[in-house]
Amino acid sequence: MTLTDTHSHLQDDAYKDDLEEVIERAEAANVSKIITMGDTVENSRAALLISQKYDSVYAAIGLHPETAAEAAEDYLDELKKLAQNKKVVAIGEIGLDYYWEKDAEKRKAQQKIFVEQIRLAKELNLPVCVHDRDAHNDTLEILKRECKDLRGVCHCFSGSYETVAELFKLGFYIGVDGPLTFKNAAKLPEIVVKAPRDRVLIETDSPYLSPAPKRGKRNEPANVLHIAEKLAEIWEVTLEEVAEITTNNAKRLYNI
Ligand code: NI
Repeated sequence: MTLTDTHSHLQDDAYKDDLEEVIERAEAANVSKIITMGDTVENSRAALLISQKYDSVYAAIGLHPETAAEAAEDYLDELKKLAQNKKVVAIGEIGLDYYWEKDAEKRKAQQKIFVEQIRLAKELNLPVCVHDRDAHNDTLEILKRECKDLRGVCHCFSGSYETVAELFKLGFYIGVDGPLTFKNAAKLPEIVVKAPRDRVLIETDSPYLSPAPKRGKRNEPANVLHIAEKLAEIWEVTLEEVAEITTNNAKRLYNI
């Protein structure tokens, strides 16, 4: 059995003392591939360095919406340079975050940088990993407008079935993480039941969003197993089948 954690942040300070052990524990839990996401140019560079050190780790590079306001003028050139490395498999995580950003001007800045990075991904023939928090309408509108030759995933999906149906029409995937295992998972299990199985990825978003039974503790890629187990329960299939389906989906989207 092989699991893939399609969304983590291994360069986060949370792992500065024990990254080696974190990767070993992932391997022991059959998590044989991990994608670590960038959120600034510097942080993307750090993600790439980790991917160069460990065979099982791949990097995504990009500016997170929360850092969009501080984007340097040449950030696209910097990302393009990093993307020359073959361990870079996506542009991410990019998108819109209206939960933390209430200012209309700054939201506009997020939109601009989101679109620029989508176009970079298309130019480089890479998928995008999209962060959408409380910005479902604008995210969907941008993805629809830019959908030609675009592929990607809406990570940590938190929207409605109507939104997800639109995403599937665009050929997008959804990423599910720890919240699927929470008692207050709301409509997520229902969405996951209805979703085409070839459109679902599993991810931890570590060090955040630890799944039950690890909720409240630092998260790490080994815990993607708990999300796979929950998915097996919801889909009424074996853990091995979930591993195979979701790993194949990750392979197809990220070419890993
Ligand atoms: Ni993330």
